[in-house]
Amino acid sequence: MPPKTLQDSLREALRRRETKLSRRRLTLIPDTSVDFSSNDFLSLSTSPIFRSRYQAHLQQAPPFYPFASGGSRLLAGNSPYAEALEEFISDFHNAPSGLLFNSGFDANVGVLSCIPQPGDLLVHDEFIHASAHEGMRLSRAGKKVPFAHSSPSSLEEVLQGEISTDERIRDGSRNVFIVIESVYSMDGDIAPIREFVEVVERLLPLGNGYFVVDEAHATGAFGPRGAGVVQELGVEERMFIRVHTFGKALASHGAIVLCCPDTREYLINYARSLIYTTALGFPFLASIRTAYELLAEGETEELQRNLQHLIRYLHTRLGELGAWDPAVFEVDHFPRSPIFSLRSPVPRQLATVCQRKGYLVHAIMSPTVPAGQERVRVCLHAGNTVEEIDGLVETIQAWLNSLASEKRTARL
Ligand SMILES: Cc1ncc(COP(=O)(O)O)c(C=O)c1O
Repeated sequence: MPPKTLQDSLREALRRRETKLSRRRLTLIPDTSVDFSSNDFLSLSTSPIFRSRYQAHLQQAPPFYPFASGGSRLLAGNSPYAEALEEFISDFHNAPSGLLFNSGFDANVGVLSCIPQPGDLLVHDEFIHASAHEGMRLSRAGKKVPFAHSSPSSLEEVLQGEISTDERIRDGSRNVFIVIESVYSMDGDIAPIREFVEVVERLLPLGNGYFVVDEAHATGAFGPRGAGVVQELGVEERMFIRVHTFGKALASHGAIVLCCPDTREYLINYARSLIYTTALGFPFLASIRTAYELLAEGETEELQRNLQHLIRYLHTRLGELGAWDPAVFEVDHFPRSPIFSLRSPVPRQLATVCQRKGYLVHAIMSPTVPAGQERVRVCLHAGNTVEEIDGLVETIQAWLNSLASEKRTARL
C-alpha cells in the first residue's frame, strides 16, 4: 500500500469532523436575511451617521496621504494619526496609555505571550476566548490553571491552592495573572469582576495579582457611552490590562491594549504579534476614530438604549413560548445581554428552520462550546425591529410545535 500522503491526512481529519457533525464551512449570507447573528450590536456598520462621518474623515486626508501603513509600527507603519488615536481612545477609557493591535486575536496573543515572566502563574476563566489560550500557550508562565466559569468561589479555591504550595506567590515575588472577559461571547453573561477583585486583593495583599480583562463583547454596548463593563463598575485602576476590540459593536477592525506606559513600552519591544506585522493603515484607523468619536459624543447612547429595549422584548417573547420539552429546547439568557443562547441537542435543525424563514442565526457546536451545550446563538442589534423579533419567535414556536406533534405521532 502506498504511504499516506499529507492530502490523505487532511481529508481524513475533515471526515472525522464530518462524522462528529463538527465540520466548519464558510457560508454566504443572503442580503435579505435579518441579522440575528453578527456582533454588530449597535448596527453601526450600516448606520448612515457612521458612514457619513467615516467618509468625511477619509476626505480630510491630505492629498497623497498614504492609505497603506507601509510596514510594522516599528518601521514605516507609525503615524501621528495612529498615536493621536491611541491617546484619544485611552482618554475615553480613562486609561494612562494604549497600544493599537491589528485585531483582538493579535492583542490577546501579544499580551499573554510576553507579559507573564518565566515561572509566573496564569489563572483563567474556563471559558476564555481561543486567542487568550493561544497567548497563554506561547507564554513563559510556569503554570496555567482554569477556574469554573464566572465563579468567584472557584477563583478563590484555585488561588488558595496555589498560594498554599508556592512560597514565591506568598512572598510576592511570583506574579499571578487573572485572565477574564467582561462579557462572554457564547453565553453573553457578564463576569462578576468586582467580586473577583475582592478575592484577589484579599488573597494577594502584596499586589502580585494582575488582571487581564478582554472587553471585546462589551465595547460599545455596555457601560457609560459604551466604554465597557470595567468603567461601569469604576474598577479601571484595578485592571492591569484591558483589551477593547473594534470588530464587533464598533463596526471596524483592530484592538487596543490599555495599560500603563511601562507595559506599553514592553509590548512595543516584545509582543511579536505587534512587531512582525504590517500596522493598520489610515482607512482602518479612520474607521476606528469615527466609531470612538460617536461614542465620546454620546451619539450611540440612543442605540444602546434601543438595544436594551429589544433585549427585554425578546426575553419576554421567549418567556411566552408554549410549553416545550426541556430535553430539546432551553433558553439561556442573562439580563442586559444582547446574546441569547437557545440550547438544543439539534441546533442545526433549529438554525436551518430559522434561516429558511430569513432569520440569520447559527448553530454553535462543540468544540466551540463544551460538548452537550450545543446551541443556536441569537444576537440582537440596535437596528433589529420588534416585528423581526416577533417573526423569529413565531418561527421557533412553529418548530417546537412540529417537534411536539412528531413526538405524539411516534407514540401512537
Ligand atoms: C472575547 C474575544 N476576544 C477576542 C476576540 C478576537 O477579536 P478580533 O475579532 O478583533 O480578532 C474575539 C472574537 O473575535 C472574542 O470574542
